[in-house]
Amino acid sequence: MEQPKRELKLRDLKIFDRQDFPSYLPKLNALYDDLFSSGKGFRSRLIQMMAGPLALKAEQVHLLAQTIEFIHNASLLHDDLVDRSALRRNKPTAWLKYSPEYAVLAGDYLLARVMVNLSRYGNLRLIQYTAEIISDLLEGEWIQDTLVDDWNVGLGQLDQVHNLKTASLFKWCLRAPFLIRENYSEELHELLEEMGGLLGLLFQRSDDLLDFDVRNGEGKAILGDLKSGYLNSFGAFLAHGLSPEQKSRLKDCTTLEEIGQVVGEGKFQARVAEFDEINQRFIDLYLHHADSLAELLPDKERPLVSNLKQLPHPLYWRK
Ligand code: FPP
Ligand code: MG
Repeated sequence: MEQPKRELKLRDLKIFDRQDFPSYLPKLNALYDDLFSSGKGFRSRLIQMMAGPLALKAEQVHLLAQTIEFIHNASLLHDDLVDRSALRRNKPTAWLKYSPEYAVLAGDYLLARVMVNLSRYGNLRLIQYTAEIISDLLEGEWIQDTLVDDWNVGLGQLDQVHNLKTASLFKWCLRAPFLIRENYSEELHELLEEMGGLLGLLFQRSDDLLDFDVRNGEGKAILGDLKSGYLNSFGAFLAHGLSPEQKSRLKDCTTLEEIGQVVGEGKFQARVAEFDEINQRFIDLYLHHADSLAELLPDKERPLVSNLKQLPHPLYWRK
């Protein structure tokens, strides 16, 4: 009985509504219609999952969910232009459909709305924290640029980028629902920061495996990172330990068969298994942190912990 009720509530939350934007901007509204109609809304679902046990008010949930989805989608509008990507969520990207200039302006406008909405609400700590994660996203993107064509890039360098680019939003989803209630606890926020960081890392590493067609159930296009000269986290893990000759052959691979020939099929599978083992340890660490979180919460908020514990396994293993 519980499950259908929750599903209904999730579907009811509308992140993008034309009424939130001026009707005298029809092109902007059309662009947002395209953008928001097909996203999975994972981050706003995370907010909703937090909001129940914390008994947030509907207007607070809406503000938080809209904030994180606006920031995420603004970053995608800009990212697709930076990456010159032709498709996003199986649709032509905004910069190709509307023009690069207007895709940038549409992203900027979403960020401006975020600041208008949050400053109207008036929680200074939340405003400041939100501005910081936008800054993190930009730093991550700038650092990533320095790693393109670096075939000796280390996992630590990539983790730094992913912490800024990907994990920052997950951290926000865990921390902002507590910040909006204005009962700040340093210890609690440090723990949530750690847990959000681990979720981001697991999400990114799993996404990076898809690029090598590992557990790619959703049929995502493969080897995009490698072909654009970027060793992602699994690519860097795979390359570590290869001879310089193998590494330079890896750069030119355009199919998985070619990668199998360079690395060896057995070795490739063994590296996937080792990578999984390392990442499973991060899942275990996350679950351990979740137990510590339970000790910091009052009884009535403890259901939050079991919600949070359900996240990392499907996020990484995709099942
Ligand atoms: C997707 O990365 C993109 C991001 C996670 C963030 C991109 C951030 C910026 C472009 C900075 C600007 C930020 C704002 C808020 C305007 P990806 O290219 O690795 O993944 P993809 O395959 O989904 O494109
Ligand atoms: Mg991209």
